[in-house]
Amino acid sequence: RSAPLVLGIETSCDETGIGIVRGTELLANTVASSMEEHVRFGGVIPEIAARAHLEAFLPTLREALETAGIELHEVDAIAVTSGPGLAGALMVGLSAAKGLALAADKPLYGVNHLVAHVGVGLLDPHENPSGGPAQEPSGHRAGNPGAEPDAEPDAEPEAGPRGMRRLPENTGALLVSGGHTEILRVGSLTSDVELLGSTIDDAAGEAFDKTARLLGLGYPGGPAIDAAAVAGDPHAFRFPRGLTMPKFEGSAQNPGKHRHNWSFSGLKTAVARAVEQFEASGRPVPVADIAASFQEAVVDVITAKAVRASLEHGITTLMLGGGVAANQRLRELLAQRCAAAGLELRIPPVSLCTDNGAMVAALGAQLVAAGVTPSSLQIPADSSQ
Ligand code: KG4
Ligand code: ZN
Repeated sequence: RSAPLVLGIETSCDETGIGIVRGTELLANTVASSMEEHVRFGGVIPEIAARAHLEAFLPTLREALETAGIELHEVDAIAVTSGPGLAGALMVGLSAAKGLALAADKPLYGVNHLVAHVGVGLLDPHENPSGGPAQEPSGHRAGNPGAEPDAEPDAEPEAGPRGMRRLPENTGALLVSGGHTEILRVGSLTSDVELLGSTIDDAAGEAFDKTARLLGLGYPGGPAIDAAAVAGDPHAFRFPRGLTMPKFEGSAQNPGKHRHNWSFSGLKTAVARAVEQFEASGRPVPVADIAASFQEAVVDVITAKAVRASLEHGITTLMLGGGVAANQRLRELLAQRCAAAGLELRIPPVSLCTDNGAMVAALGAQLVAAGVTPSSLQIPADSSQ
């Protein structure tokens, strides 16, 4: 049988994403975002996001089908994000997916958003309908330069069921966005996913957004801080790296409760205090230096903990996902530290790192190919999953 043709639907936050894949081939990745409607509030407003999904759904679906050159009845399955995410936003995508599955008599797969961020890494590294290479030249394998050459090239993981590309063994995923910050060990996309660590307060992107607001840099804050930091000194301020004290981290043999967890609330407070001090003294706030030092603190602790968690859990390939993956300093330092640790790093193009429907379709195709039982049409939105 040929590779499954799967439609993927993503509505967990502010992006309405519809993606279409045939096996590991990306045919369409259409995304509508309600970000502009949230800007004046400085954060995503759930009610507005849900309403925007409702309005954007059909036009986005039509455009994706047109781009892929297919009709709905041709697909083998419909995959949809069932969680985690904003409950009302998830319900729009889930309800639509159920309606389409029922009307077209297709199997429905409710998928986990975080696992979908990992699944997107299995799409072919060419054929990108949105233009540009689907795989940026960031993959590398370091360490052991004298060792025997690999039996198979890095970019061509073994063929799995029905000719599908399979997840490399011992894959880890570092997911950093406005909604989540996690390190996962992914033994298999269909069953074996283990959460190794996560943020205990703000997500990394949220920290960027809140700090940008403090610095008057606007929203979303990540790109603004990334840009402002270029002109700043990352060592001008020594901002805290959360949960790195020995009592939280313990040792590899005797790990502390927060060994692989992050916290960004103390960092945010430290930035606020620095800004207040400048304002109180009437001196101009050194925005570029604070932005660069804040970014360095976030990126330092994210990369240090992600690489260490990977090494301690036998991970050999680390996949990066989430909107913060666009951050230049994160990409640079993560590449350096993965190389030093002998970890292979894979970074999909930014259009596939941010929330999209292609990642849901990519995971759906893996589930179909693996013969996983479809979800019931009663499947609920699980915002906390
Ligand atoms: O994955 P995404 O598009 O949506 C979710 O939050 O799920 O991620 C958006 C987040 C925002 O918090 C945004 O500020 C952050 O990603 N972001 C960045 C950069 N570009 C986007 N953070 C740091 N540096 C960037 N260049
Ligand atoms: Zn996401």
